[in-house]
Amino acid sequence: MDMKRSNRPWQRWDDPEVASAIDDYWTSSAYEASHRRILAEMVAEYAGIAGRRLLEVGCGSGLVYSELVPTVAPNDSYTGVDVSTEMLSIARSRHEDAQFVRGDAYDLPFGSSEFDVVTCFEVLVHLPSILRPIAELMRVSRRLVIFTVWLSSSGETERTDEKHAGVRFLHNEYSLEDILQAVSSAHGHNGWNVEVRVLSPSLWALVLLKDSPLAPPSNTINARIRPFPGVIEAIRRDYAQRIARLEQGLASKEAQAEQLQGNLASKEVEVADLQGNLASKEVEVADLQGNLASKEVEVADLQGSLATRDCALDRLGRSARAAAMELDVQRSRRAVRYIGRFLDRLSLDDQIAPSFQQLRDDSLLYCSITRGYKLQPSESLHRVPFLDYRVEIRNRRLRGVLLAPILDAPATKGSLGLEVVRDDGRTLIHVLKAATEIGGEVPLLIEFPPIGGAAAAGYLLRVFALDVDVPIRLFEWRKYSLFGLGPVQRRAFCGFVFAS
Ligand SMILES: C[S@@+](CC[C@H](N)C(=O)[O-])C[C@H]1O[C@@H](n2cnc3c(N)ncnc32)[C@H](O)[C@@H]1O
Repeated sequence: MDMKRSNRPWQRWDDPEVASAIDDYWTSSAYEASHRRILAEMVAEYAGIAGRRLLEVGCGSGLVYSELVPTVAPNDSYTGVDVSTEMLSIARSRHEDAQFVRGDAYDLPFGSSEFDVVTCFEVLVHLPSILRPIAELMRVSRRLVIFTVWLSSSGETERTDEKHAGVRFLHNEYSLEDILQAVSSAHGHNGWNVEVRVLSPSLWALVLLKDSPLAPPSNTINARIRPFPGVIEAIRRDYAQRIARLEQGLASKEAQAEQLQGNLASKEVEVADLQGNLASKEVEVADLQGNLASKEVEVADLQGSLATRDCALDRLGRSARAAAMELDVQRSRRAVRYIGRFLDRLSLDDQIAPSFQQLRDDSLLYCSITRGYKLQPSESLHRVPFLDYRVEIRNRRLRGVLLAPILDAPATKGSLGLEVVRDDGRTLIHVLKAATEIGGEVPLLIEFPPIGGAAAAGYLLRVFALDVDVPIRLFEWRKYSLFGLGPVQRRAFCGFVFAS
């Protein structure tokens, strides 16, 4: 017996998971269970005629056995045969003391007439041909064979397939004529009589009885077709149940649909809200973009004005420097200089800001100022190479000088220089300070490393300008002799910073 799958692509009951999935379906379906019960009742109805040795061909997972034993047949009279090891192992686990053997309906491993009753339910529909299996069923039975077939509605044999647990199986529906033809060619009319029992409009059972008083199948076969008692009722019940299930399903689908419509409506409201929000956000964005654009225009305008102002400022700076130069030239004229000498009010001594007070005090202390000195601007450092002032520092270490420079306009370049020269002519300090740092509000501090301190010392403070682009002068003390016509005596107007 060759039962290898490759030779029988239609026989895939041993594919992984198939047997257990199909068994699950059979045990959970009330419809399938009612069929098995009806079949068991049918066997019971004929068993009195047949005796007790019972063979079930294609016994599957032993569910028919559950209906047959022990109500219909005693346990030891039952043998189940099936081609699938998976189905058999489920059947064995379900009924440990039953006899289940492996075998093929095309070649049953039993002797002729070994059983009284042979049943075969829901098997032939999955086989590619029925002639040989029907002949085998009849061979091993002594008196009674009951098998089920699916009747085609068209009256012609129809070969289709169906899916169980994702696997395709044959599903062949036969005309009654073809089935009876198979029965008769299997064993001729050799003492067998046929009764057809209707289990459902398409599932029919054929009951073959040996040596019964019934006539052999012939043209009068319709006369022997009768529904199994209660089948019509069962069919009615079954359809009523199906209709109830469908109505239930429909009702729940309608409820679902209603819920979905509710959801849809609320989603539509949400979408409408979102669209509203979006529209208002778009308006906001458009507004912001408008504002931004106008701000950009403002900024551009401001930048333009700023540039114009910068130009104007630049021009003003240049004019201021030119005017300052001009003023310097005017001042340098003798007449102007001498007029200044006679005017007492030109002493700025009593007008200096508090921030210049230290310069006043220090210069009185260290620069030998006597009566008659006026605080006035010096010569322009553009006109003289430098201005020298003598100072006397006693026992202190000098580390900075405060001066009061005057710029007629802000300088943009150059430096103010300071040298401290000792009495013996040696230059101790040489410092440059950027002219741009000269403000005029506060004294200009020029710092340097500390010098002197041991004893009284006289120094020369030498102040000069390097490459400054406006006239630069210093406030200094001035004393005029000979009614303003003689030489001028000059003293430094400066403060001092000492190292502690
Ligand atoms: C649809 S099931 C029916 C099982 C059982 N008779 C019932 O009604 O619950 C078909 C059974 O026939 C078996 N089968 C298929 N081809 C067979 C063959 N050639 N010989 C024996 N058993 C076969 C399968 O293994 C499977 O268990």
